[in-house]
Amino acid sequence: MPTENKSTISHDHRPATELTFEEAVKGGARLIPGKAIAAGIRAEVKRAVDERSKNGLRAPGLAVILVGEDPASAVYVSHKTKACEEVGVMSRRCVLPSDASQAALESLIDELNADSEIDGILLQLPLPGHLEAPPLLERINPAKDVDGFHPYNIGRLAQRMPALRPCTPKGIITLLQKSGIDPKGKDTVIVGASNIVGRPMALEMLLVGSTVTVTHKFTSNLAHKVAMADILIVAVGIPGLVKGEWIKPGAVVIDVGINRLECGRLCGDVEFDAAAQRASLITPVPGGVGPMTVATLLENTLLAATLNP
Ligand code: GUN
Repeated sequence: MPTENKSTISHDHRPATELTFEEAVKGGARLIPGKAIAAGIRAEVKRAVDERSKNGLRAPGLAVILVGEDPASAVYVSHKTKACEEVGVMSRRCVLPSDASQAALESLIDELNADSEIDGILLQLPLPGHLEAPPLLERINPAKDVDGFHPYNIGRLAQRMPALRPCTPKGIITLLQKSGIDPKGKDTVIVGASNIVGRPMALEMLLVGSTVTVTHKFTSNLAHKVAMADILIVAVGIPGLVKGEWIKPGAVVIDVGINRLECGRLCGDVEFDAAAQRASLITPVPGGVGPMTVATLLENTLLAATLNP
């Protein structure tokens, strides 16, 4: 675990996520520059899409399904379609009213499964309460499942034969790799056991040889579990749930939470300032994991197009 570089550098004139990796230091911890790493991934995808075009291949195509008017989901979907545009991926927004039926979604998914211009299908979650997500996710052709949520793709990951992998956990693996962290033999603690992040994250960390503990709402003595972590990954959606004083000195802290406070400020699930005093590396919120989820979705869409010409 890197513990060097404890000096504090003043950098008031630029946002932390635009600093070079060595420069970005907060309270003793280096910041993991997710925004910059994600920009690098998008540039790689753009190069590959341009190369396809030179070879006479069509642009990869992504369909994003949004049901209803949840404001956070609408923002996430617009980030995704804007990123597609930037790298030359064709995107199609499929917007359904909040009272859309299960059958309407089933037939939309069937159409997209059969559409030869669409390589990836993403059903934005959560869905309105009257809809059931699992059968819809299972209806997506696994070869077009760029979110990696289909039981086939989760099963492949569980059996150490990954195919399309869930975007946020895969993006976190990329962040760790680009930050020079080798998780093999390290103790990883994941706070939160959701289908979208916590569970697939546990499978990803097992795959790279980490010893994994997953905590959830029934876990006793969370502070004690968190204190064991060489690598701590928090994905719950509760601002400041993880206290800075719980963090093991020198730990790597990955905060997946994006919470909007009443004052309008965005913050993560970890008490950032106090955690940065103890961690060796920490992701900022915003500008840490969030941009990696979107960049990884583009990577997965390109991969789906490449595997299924
Ligand atoms: N809602 C929150 N995160 C995600 C995600 O990664 N994919 C989808 N489809 N919905 C989400």
